[in-house]
Amino acid sequence: MRNNQLMARLEELKRERDAAVFAHNYQIPEVQDAADYIGDSLGLSRIAAETKADVILFCGVHFMAETASILSPNKKILVPDLNAGCPMADMVMPRELARWRDGNPGKVVVTYVNSSAAVKALSDICCTSANAVQVVESIPADKEILFVPDRNLGKFVMAKTGRRMELWLGFCPTHERMLVEQAERAKAMHPDALLLAHPECPADLLAIADYVSSTTGIIAYCHESPAREFIIATECGILHPLRRGNPDKIFHTFNPVADCPNMKLNTLQKMVWALEDMAPEVSVPKELADRARLPIQRMLEIG
Ligand code: 13P
Ligand code: SF4
Repeated sequence: MRNNQLMARLEELKRERDAAVFAHNYQIPEVQDAADYIGDSLGLSRIAAETKADVILFCGVHFMAETASILSPNKKILVPDLNAGCPMADMVMPRELARWRDGNPGKVVVTYVNSSAAVKALSDICCTSANAVQVVESIPADKEILFVPDRNLGKFVMAKTGRRMELWLGFCPTHERMLVEQAERAKAMHPDALLLAHPECPADLLAIADYVSSTTGIIAYCHESPAREFIIATECGILHPLRRGNPDKIFHTFNPVADCPNMKLNTLQKMVWALEDMAPEVSVPKELADRARLPIQRMLEIG
């Protein structure tokens, strides 16, 4: 089927199933264009907790759908492709985290939402790239912190807050490949452009960035900034909302492999199949969801 036929079928199925479509800012353009809500991890978590629809078709990666299931246990959470995972989330196993935590009694475990439900359930509080600094600032100064799993986000938060934290050595394979040398070359080629980066990028790149934020933070900054030209150091899916929302501005990427292969597994065809079959479903078992909800709610209360 062609895209317009798929879009029409999707609309029909959304009505039949009372479904809302959520899409992360990294999704391919046609998936974003078919979505009811587009956002970063934090924004989509908040909407998942509030939406009235019976079914959420979550176009992102697995941990995002799990978070929606944890926050909306009475809704059916579908995904277009169950293979869309997050390699960073897979870099921390619950058993290894439990051992680290048990070996450090009294320390506060702060866990980036790019993690499994089982890892969240072992944590004191979650954070996203949008609120990691505020979350860490909310922890009493005399408490020591274990930060899981992204070492780059962890280093960024340490630099911003002045707090020392022990870091898990996880990383995002897509952002880890964004090199400071490439960014410097891009800056030399486009001297009037601002460099905007996601905090999952390596620390040396973040050190030369003009602004560091979550995906939605980057989109908002570009929209509000009087600057006309930007170099974007994050996954290339973000270029779609940036260009659509700012037709008079220029956006450059500098990395030819700025692709998250997992985010790109979702397609319009798979979205239609998911609503036709009401599968694949992501459902976190109640006992685990109840434990994982606590650290997520603590984060959401921070604002
Ligand atoms: P955001 O929360 O900034 O959207 O980032 C999620 C992510 O997976 C970045 O790689
Ligand atoms: Fe995970 Fe990186 Fe893909 Fe984000 S871009 S979902 S952190 S692998």
